Amino acid sequence: GYGVSSLLKDTGNVVFDPGFVNTANARSAITYIDGANGILRYRGYPIEELAEKSNFVEVAYLLIYGELPTPEQYQDFEHRITTHTMVHEDLKMFFNGFPRSAHPMPVLSSAVSALSTFYADSLDPHDPQQVEISTIRLLAKVPTLAAYAYKKSVGEPMLYPHNELNYSENFLRMCFGVPAANYEVDPDMAKALDILLMLHADHEQNCSTSTVRLVGSSEANIFASVSAGVNALYGPLHGGANEAVLKMLGQIQNEGMDPDTFMEKVKNKEDGVKLMGFGHRVYKSYDPRAQIIKGYAHDILGKLGGNNEMLDIALKLEEKALADDYFVERKLYPNVDFYTGLIYKAMGFPERMFTVLFAIGRLPGWIAQWREMIEDPETKIGRPRQLYVGEGERHYPQR
Ligand code: ACO
Repeated sequence: GYGVSSLLKDTGNVVFDPGFVNTANARSAITYIDGANGILRYRGYPIEELAEKSNFVEVAYLLIYGELPTPEQYQDFEHRITTHTMVHEDLKMFFNGFPRSAHPMPVLSSAVSALSTFYADSLDPHDPQQVEISTIRLLAKVPTLAAYAYKKSVGEPMLYPHNELNYSENFLRMCFGVPAANYEVDPDMAKALDILLMLHADHEQNCSTSTVRLVGSSEANIFASVSAGVNALYGPLHGGANEAVLKMLGQIQNEGMDPDTFMEKVKNKEDGVKLMGFGHRVYKSYDPRAQIIKGYAHDILGKLGGNNEMLDIALKLEEKALADDYFVERKLYPNVDFYTGLIYKAMGFPERMFTVLFAIGRLPGWIAQWREMIEDPETKIGRPRQLYVGEGERHYPQR
C-alpha cells in the first residue's frame, strides 16, 4: 500500500513542522528519554547508574558500540584513545592564526574540520575500518584541541598530552598545567569533570546531534559532520545556557537582590527575564541530569572551594520555583545547565569554556549517532520541504 513518504511525494502534501517538534527523522537505539517522567537511559542503562558506577570512556564505548565493554575491551579502547591524543605539529600552527580574543568554540570547530585534511586516508563513510580509526582519532584529539583553544585564549604555551593520565585528568592538565612545572591533577576535580562529561554524552536528536546526522546524510565525512555539530552547539539556545545561568546568579549576588524580588520579575515577564536553567523542550519533569548534579554540587563545591553563596542562591531559587504556581502550571523544572556552570567555574574554567566542555562531553553521542545513521539502510539525504510564501510568477521588466 501507500507509505507516508510515497503519499507525500505523489500529492505534493507537506507537513509544516517548524523546529521538527513532531517529526522523527531517525530510528535510534542509542538514547531513550521520557520527558514526562524525567527518565534518561543510554542503551537502556539509567543515567543515574552510569553516573554512579561508570566513567566517561566506558560510556563512550557503550554509546558507540551498544554494549558495556568487557575489561579487555575497555583496556584496548582506552589504550587506543590514549595513544592518539597527540595532534600533528602543523595543525598546532593553525592556532597562531586566530586572534587572541577568539572564542574557543569556533576555534575548536575549525580545528575539528581541519582534521579531515590531516587524515584524508580515512574519510570513506562506508569503510568500517576507516570509520573506526576516525572514531578513535576524534575521541582522542578533541580534548587536546580544546585545551589548545583554551591555552590560546589565555596566552599560555600549549602542553602535550600525558599518556599515563586518564581522559579527564589529561584534559585538566593540558588546560591548567604549565610547562616545566609539575601539575598535580586534583582527583576530586577529575572525577567531577568525568561525571559531567558522562551526563552530557548523548541526548538523542537535539539540535547539534541532528546537525551531525543531517550533514553526514550527504556522506560528508565524520570530521566535517562533527565540526558542524560543534557549531550548532555554539548557539546560546543550545550549549550556551550554562553561561547564562552563571551570569544570572552573579547578578543577583552582586546586586544583593532578594531571590523573591527576582522571582517576581520572572513571573511578571519583566524585560523578558527568565529563570535561566529552568524549562526544557522535552523534560516536563525534573531533568534527571540536574538531579544528579544537584546531589554532587555541595560536595564538589566544598572540595574545590567554589562559590557557595551562588549555590545557595541557586538552591533558594529552585526551592521557590518548585513551590510556585507559575512554574508548576508550566511544568518548569531545573535543566542540566542549572548547576553545571557553578561547578565548571569552581574548577577554574572561564565562562567561555563552558560550551567547549559540553562539546567534549557530547562527542561520543555525535559519533554514535553518525555511525548509526551511516549504517542504517533507511537513511536518506536530509532534505526538508518548505511552504513557499513568495511571489507568484512575474516577468523581467522591459527597460
Ligand atoms: N523562566 C520563566 N518562564 C519560562 C521559562 C523560564 N526559564 N521557560 C519557559 N517559561 C515559560 C514561557 O514564558 C511560557 O510561558 P507562557 O505560556 O506564559 O507564554 C511557558 O513557560 C512555555 O515555555 P516555552 O518557551 O514555550 O517552552 P519551549 O519548550 O519552547 O522552551 C526552553 C524551552 C527554551 C528551554 C525554555 O524553557 C527556556 O528558555 N529556558 C531558559 C533557558 C535554558 O535554560 N535553556 C537550556 C535548555 S537545556 C539545554 O540546552 C542543555
